Amino acid sequence: MNKKSLYHFPVVMMLSASLLLVACGNEEQKNTKNEEKVEEQNITKKAEEKVATETKEKEKEKVKEEKRDAGGYFINQKPVQKEHYEKGILIANKVYPMPKSFAPGESKEARAAFNKMNTQAKKAGFELDAFSTYRSYERQVELYNNYVARDGQEAADTYSARPGFSEHQTGLAFDIGEVGNSADYADDRFGETEAGKWIAAHAHEFGFIMRYPQGKEKITGYKYESWHFRYVGKDIATKIYKDNSTLEEYLGVNG
Ligand code: DAL
Ligand code: ZN
Repeated sequence: MNKKSLYHFPVVMMLSASLLLVACGNEEQKNTKNEEKVEEQNITKKAEEKVATETKEKEKEKVKEEKRDAGGYFINQKPVQKEHYEKGILIANKVYPMPKSFAPGESKEARAAFNKMNTQAKKAGFELDAFSTYRSYERQVELYNNYVARDGQEAADTYSARPGFSEHQTGLAFDIGEVGNSADYADDRFGETEAGKWIAAHAHEFGFIMRYPQGKEKITGYKYESWHFRYVGKDIATKIYKDNSTLEEYLGVNG
């Protein structure tokens, strides 16, 4: 380095340092701005989620407040255009009907699960029979009208769904009994039999839930049915079984 360069060296160093500081400062500012932007986006997202949750809660409250008839159905309920899915799960109850035209037939997945369950049941000493599974809208008209003629509408509404409201129309509901004991089909007595107790304890392992359990009548809208099982898949069935809850409680909907 010559004399002149030596003389300029500190100045050059200082200038370089300043430039470096400015550059770092700019980078820091940029980073801070990015962080602020992300935070802002997060706040907006959270606010939107809060509004969505509140709207849903309000809708649920509205459903609760709306007037129901003696059978638990909304007065002047209009026919729907589409069946209702909550969290991707098809729900059919007194609040969520299906269109007349909804006719999926028996679910193949549910039938396969039932067959697996039956194989295990046989090993335990019981042969199961799914004596009523998919029912069309028209079939439910016949059944419901017969029950109303026999017991009156108010009583019928506690155990039979009105046409368009039956879970059997989804193709996912299986009424189950034991082969050789048809006397207990669709009867409370089934729950007291060894086969009834076995299925109550094991159905979830195959993806089924007892859909209308004892003590949950106000939540499901129906009397206890030890024979009516609904296919929801193993994970959800196990959760509902372990929580001792219902599909309505799991989905957070009214029944
Ligand atoms: N027994 C049930 C509630 C139905 O009719 O679908
Ligand atoms: Zn049933």
